[in-house]
Amino acid sequence: MTNQKVLITGCGGMLGDAVYAEFSKNYSQVMATDINLTENWLTYLDVREIDQCEKAFDTFKPDIVLHLAALTDLEFCENDPDNTWKTNALGTENIALLAKKHNATMVYISTAGVFDGNQEYYNDFDQPNPLNYYAKSKYHGEVFVQRYLEKFFIFRAGWMMGSGVKKDKKFINKIFKQIQEGKKELFIVDDKLGTPTYTVNFAQSIFKVMKTGYYGLYNQVCSGSCSRYDVAVKFIEYLNLTDKIKITKVDSSYFEKEYFALRPYSEKLVNLKLESRKINFMEDWEKCLEEYSKVFINQLK
Ligand SMILES: NC(=O)c1ccc[n+]([C@@H]2O[C@H](COP(=O)([O-])OP(=O)(O)OC[C@H]3O[C@@H](n4cnc5c(N)ncnc54)[C@H](OP(=O)(O)O)[C@@H]3O)[C@@H](O)[C@H]2O)c1
Repeated sequence: MTNQKVLITGCGGMLGDAVYAEFSKNYSQVMATDINLTENWLTYLDVREIDQCEKAFDTFKPDIVLHLAALTDLEFCENDPDNTWKTNALGTENIALLAKKHNATMVYISTAGVFDGNQEYYNDFDQPNPLNYYAKSKYHGEVFVQRYLEKFFIFRAGWMMGSGVKKDKKFINKIFKQIQEGKKELFIVDDKLGTPTYTVNFAQSIFKVMKTGYYGLYNQVCSGSCSRYDVAVKFIEYLNLTDKIKITKVDSSYFEKEYFALRPYSEKLVNLKLESRKINFMEDWEKCLEEYSKVFINQLK
């Protein structure tokens, strides 16, 4: 346990759960914030408002700031680009400027979505070319962090899975909700590729990599890669529902009205830098999904 102070933004979300658990285990003073106060351990902080951010830095005086706050729904971002720029890009610039002013180390969570998907795999050195407002605004965040700070970590995550029924906003919980609604057939795309990233494993890895003091930008995803279809097949298998639920492959045009934001064909990341520095603590995606599925099995009972 160290007595450095840790400020976390956007900690009420699906990654926030795991980050809060990991960092409050290792640091005695953690200030977890969000605009959505879903937990009693959260304090209100809107990263779009620099005076609110300044007040948090002035009063709490963090040594480390973990910046998770973002708008993460791609369709919502397409429909409201101004708010997306303010939250994801300006909000990150606000935190980066204050981290610089207060000499704090900043950790920023970015996304595999910064790439255009025209190649199958992307390492840490490949050139981003974001396709949608979410990814563009997140990429600007990466640029600000690198422009203003020396003591920073940027971790690019892939398809996030974690936090369970209540907070998981992404693919796994979307499938699970359909199962709970009684659906016996699921339609899943097989023309979108990526690397799942388990929040618990990801949060633990952030802590371990930070401890090395090797600052910089890192791809940090689970090992292995897959299509959305592959993930669904494994999830159903881990839920012991293979005989009860049919999974039908479709292509992305099937969901073009619902998921209208442009998405890359491939978001597969390779943790080249973490591997080379022998600090890749990410585990196999199937092993992580099997562990995560236990949360949902309990809900089925
Ligand atoms: N989920 C993924 O697949 C994924 C993949 C790669 C990278 N990431 C990155 O990982 C980080 C954490 O995302 P997540 O998956 O935990 O998403 P999340 O569940 O949407 O969490 C983000 C949190 O930030 C909050 N927030 C939104 N606007 C804010 C503002 N102006 N000030 C303060 N907080 C604000 C959100 O509140 P509301 O719920 O009210 O919006 C939410 O509680 C984000 O930076 C995201 O870009 C996520």
